[in-house]
Amino acid sequence: MCSAIDYFSVICYLLIFLLSNCSSIPLNQLSEHQFHPDVGLNISQLLKRHGYPFEGHTVVTEDGYILALHRVPHGINNKSEEVDKPVALLVHGLMSQSIDFLNNEPEHSLGFLLAEKGYDVWLINLRGNTHSRRHISLDPDTDKDKFWDFSWHDSGIYDLPATIDYILSHTGQSQLYYFGHSRGTTAFFVMASSLPEYNQKIKLMTALAPVVFMQNNIDPSKRLMADFLAGLKVTAKVLDIHELMPHSDSILTIVKTCCYEGSVCVKECEMYFEQSFGHAPTEFNMTLLPVYLSNTPAGFSVKDGFHYLQHFKNGGRFRQYDYGSSMNKVKYGQSIPPEYNLTNVVTPVALHYARKDKATGYKDVEHLAKILPNCIRLSLVPLEDFDHVNFIWSNHIKTLVYDEVFEDLKKY
Ligand SMILES: *[C@@H]1O[C@H](CO)[C@@H](O)[C@H](O)[C@H]1NC(C)=O
Ligand SMILES: *[C@@H]1O[C@H](CO)[C@@H](O)[C@H](O)[C@H]1NC(C)=O
Ligand SMILES: *[C@@H]1O[C@H](CO)[C@@H](O)[C@H](O)[C@H]1NC(C)=O
Ligand SMILES: *[C@@H]1O[C@H](CO)[C@@H](O)[C@H](O)[C@H]1NC(C)=O
Repeated sequence: MCSAIDYFSVICYLLIFLLSNCSSIPLNQLSEHQFHPDVGLNISQLLKRHGYPFEGHTVVTEDGYILALHRVPHGINNKSEEVDKPVALLVHGLMSQSIDFLNNEPEHSLGFLLAEKGYDVWLINLRGNTHSRRHISLDPDTDKDKFWDFSWHDSGIYDLPATIDYILSHTGQSQLYYFGHSRGTTAFFVMASSLPEYNQKIKLMTALAPVVFMQNNIDPSKRLMADFLAGLKVTAKVLDIHELMPHSDSILTIVKTCCYEGSVCVKECEMYFEQSFGHAPTEFNMTLLPVYLSNTPAGFSVKDGFHYLQHFKNGGRFRQYDYGSSMNKVKYGQSIPPEYNLTNVVTPVALHYARKDKATGYKDVEHLAKILPNCIRLSLVPLEDFDHVNFIWSNHIKTLVYDEVFEDLKKY
């Protein structure tokens, strides 16, 4: 049963627990539990339920990936459809997807807040996730090794430029506001350093929990994985694993069984959530948890993960994928992968980070701020326990972070 989802996933842990311990759950009681009305809804259904418009668009990248681009053209209180609306592009992190900027409470969801402020909101789905698991000639299941041979480097080089050009041409705008969370920031820095002309297309880059350098990551389990990277690579190759944590309907079943106050396996649910995403106990909202987990995780490539893990022990560099010295010579003409030149990133950048973020070390973010030529803000979240995923999912995110974001938007 676990192999149907994926080997590395902690979800297996929940499944095993369910199979062995939860057989005694009285199912009639389960069905009586009143879940939040957003549980199980996808992005178009969720927007409809909240009274918002939804548009689906498709972008094909230069290397053939077919990306689903989602749009919320206006708010419900602010229905302004003037032609000159400012455009916002929201770019999600690892395992994530477009809906994750909309499934917190509406008054604390960046997507809804921007729509009400009069922005034309576009939400990307990077290659490989639930909505963008498509290619013009490759099949993600039968051409696994070719389809999944990408990391956030390719999202930065192909997905973002294709998407930005599509949006600007569709709206007639010359610039847009970029909002990235986690990998959505990594891919941005790849693009803005490798294709410098794209800096002119971005008015302001708001980076939530930016991930660039990994030298000072504080999470012992990630550090351990980085130590055993060579072994993980061999394991993935032998087991023919290329995709991690794809969306699966069994996740929602598990979530509905375990993830509510009073369920017999609520502790395992919390543990899964904390292990997979990092989530401050003080910011943990059990009511919304099944909403978040209805669509997420949404899948990513093994290479995405490996490319990050390579950065734990590379002397604090930000550089392209390391294939090993002889293969690097073939690919790059040098034995060490080329570094991304962050001096090229002239777009104004605002950095928001947290002290205990397990996915990105605060010292690494502070280092990034020193290197970027046009860093306009370096803001530490004033809540001790705040973690990576709280930048999109938290009960107090508007006052803790987004109000500062909106201040910056007024200036640029
Ligand atoms: C959401 O689900 C409905 C019903 O299955 C489907 O018709 C719709 O296309 C889905 N929306 C997206 C954006 O996938
Ligand atoms: C509504 O949107 C317009 C244009 O998009 C914007 O100028 C205006 O400030 C917005 N109104 C509010 C109350 O935010
Ligand atoms: C958790 O989310 C629910 C649903 O949006 C909300 O009613 C409740 O107030 C939230 N709890 C906390 C502690 O903020
Ligand atoms: C990085 O870019 C800057 C400005 O664009 C340039 O002056 C510098 O030579 C580049 N550095 C490297 C190592 O290519």
